[in-house]
Amino acid sequence: MAQKIGRNDPCWCNSGRKYKVCHKAFDEKIQRIREEGHIVPEQGMIKTAEQIAGIRESAKINIAVLDYVAGQIKAGMSTEEIDRMVYEKTVRMGGVPATLHYQGFPKSACTSRNEQVCHGIPSEQDVLKDGDIINVDISTRLNGYYSDSSRMFCIGSVSPEKERLVRVAKECVEVGLKEVKPWGFLGDMGQAVHDHAFANGYTVVREIGGHGVGLEFHEDPWVSYNSTRGTEMLMAPGMVFTIEPMINMGRPEIYIDDANGWTAYTQDGLPSAQWEVQVLVTEDGYEILSY
Ligand code: MF3
Ligand code: CO
Repeated sequence: MAQKIGRNDPCWCNSGRKYKVCHKAFDEKIQRIREEGHIVPEQGMIKTAEQIAGIRESAKINIAVLDYVAGQIKAGMSTEEIDRMVYEKTVRMGGVPATLHYQGFPKSACTSRNEQVCHGIPSEQDVLKDGDIINVDISTRLNGYYSDSSRMFCIGSVSPEKERLVRVAKECVEVGLKEVKPWGFLGDMGQAVHDHAFANGYTVVREIGGHGVGLEFHEDPWVSYNSTRGTEMLMAPGMVFTIEPMINMGRPEIYIDDANGWTAYTQDGLPSAQWEVQVLVTEDGYEILSY
């Protein structure tokens, strides 16, 4: 834990309660688990009630934008048009797209089709065709609070192979979510995701994972799916992170497009699918903030 805080001092979480009746037992429990040799969250990763309320408001916009895209997306539409819808809907609701100008990223959403794994850049040239699968990844900043989630969309009639990939990628997030509970480990979630992908004959991208999110767009911890039960960071109430495994139909290897420095593709050219959920660890399990 950070600095020494007295029993009768106000708690660091701004609840207004004395430390001894608020987070003291919580901090001691985390300290014990640290001493057992586990990776534990820093105090800054435990969101206060006020911060959670702010993140929830931001997440409402994220969900509304995804719902809006879901109602409009169709064959013949360019990914630039999707980007425009995302920008307009987000701004109308009082938010700002978090990807726009983020480390030089030029657009308001990531749109990743077929063998594009993630970080596809919307473009007028990129027109959706019947049979495509596409991930639309949305992130929002509102009053300094961040949200981040993504969905897959099937355009027109998609092959059974691609449809199954999209379905299993969603199931991977859902089996992972079931493992999100306080005093478990991120590796419990990671292994569940990985095992489900493998049981279905798929692979999971290793280089890109999920992340803490809320006060910044990308915070610690980094969230891997090539992890095993009982390893990686402890999950504690108040943590907010994403589960966003990229599930490949073929090999797990990827490369980044040299021309734009962002877009990841599968090396073997086979399709990849990804759903992303933003989740809060609660006292007795989890709460989905955006999906
Ligand atoms: N939403 C993506 C993520 O899950 C955003 C990546 S950063 C970008 O982390 F600049 F590429 F958008
Ligand atoms: Co993310």
